[in-house]
Amino acid sequence: MLKIDKVSASIAGITVLRGIETEFKAGQLLAVVGRNGAGKTTLLRAIMGLLPLSSGTVSIDGQDLLRIPGHRRTEFGIGYAPEDRVMFPTFTVEENLRLPCEVLGLPESEIDVRLARVLEVVPQLGEMLPRSGAALSGGQGKMAALGRALMAGTRLVLLDEPFQGLAPVLANQYAEALRRLHHLAPELCIVVTESNRSLLRDLPDATLTLERGELVTDV
Ligand SMILES: Nc1ncnc2c1ncn2[C@@H]1O[C@H](COP(=O)(O)OP(=O)(O)OP(=O)(O)O)[C@@H](O)[C@H]1O
Ligand SMILES: [Mg+2]
Repeated sequence: MLKIDKVSASIAGITVLRGIETEFKAGQLLAVVGRNGAGKTTLLRAIMGLLPLSSGTVSIDGQDLLRIPGHRRTEFGIGYAPEDRVMFPTFTVEENLRLPCEVLGLPESEIDVRLARVLEVVPQLGEMLPRSGAALSGGQGKMAALGRALMAGTRLVLLDEPFQGLAPVLANQYAEALRRLHHLAPELCIVVTESNRSLLRDLPDATLTLERGELVTDV
């Protein structure tokens, strides 16, 4: 579905992605594992169009994503929960969740359906909906960021180190939410990055390993 072909990228003159070649397939729960600084965030940002590539292509079902400006990539059903999970503080959590769909111009009825589906996957969000986006703990913010990514990500969701810094109880809830999602949306491709492989337990169907900007074959 999402094809990454010989992608390289540099930040401030330093090469941080080197010839990445892989495909994210529909229905996959995929982990991208690598140490701090390996390039996980950069890879997701490259897919989202938040960083120029020095070479290579990214395509979704054969359509060249590089021709699509970053802010329009959600139109392809791609959702993204960045590492820093920013919620707009002057909006409620519900408004934060609805926002990407409103930007897409989806009808309210469709947004309601999506929100209901997200609450099925992440029931903990129910009681957070009326709260201000500024009134969440770090862990709650991660749950809300997952919900927001799922509102737009009907085909692919990219979750950047969601388990980092989560207390064990919340990490279990988060993992359960991903299992439910995998089950309820069997065609959805879920990509989770992580620097500590053990936090993922038996969650992923497949794992890619990044080392200094390069994909290496798992042993
Ligand atoms: N804004 C920036 N300016 C300069 N260098 C950067 C910047 N962002 C990332 N880098 C460099 O790019 C490389 C890859 O960083 P990236 O954030 O993608 O790694 P990561 O695998 O997500 O790490 P972490 O596990 O710490 O989140 C690192 O060497 C980092 O120092
Ligand atoms: Mg990162």
